[in-house]
Amino acid sequence: MSKLVFILPDGTAQTVAAIPDTSAMRHAVDNGLPLDADCGGECMCATCHVHVDPGWFNKLEPAEEQEADMLGVVDDPSPTSRLSCRIRMTEKLDGLVLRLPPTHR
Ligand code: FES
Repeated sequence: MSKLVFILPDGTAQTVAAIPDTSAMRHAVDNGLPLDADCGGECMCATCHVHVDPGWFNKLEPAEEQEADMLGVVDDPSPTSRLSCRIRMTEKLDGLVLRLPPTHR
């Protein structure tokens, strides 16, 4: 089974089983990680913001316009910022590493 790795703000790693065609945000929430996802995945809150590990960033589909707009208002932006509700797990993303910015505690 594919996996997804979250790095928490304190540096600890949590690996979860990846469910195909399910958002990375849903994996974080369902596994009790500190990620608010206030809008439930509608790309309207940016509280699901993550930093994609640089080695994985270019393997993701590019952000669409609405996501790019929302990324303009996140705290702790980085060059690899994405909204985790817009990242859908596929087999080619097996082992994807996402870091939760310090704002997620
Ligand atoms: Fe609200 Fe992703 S959950 S933008």
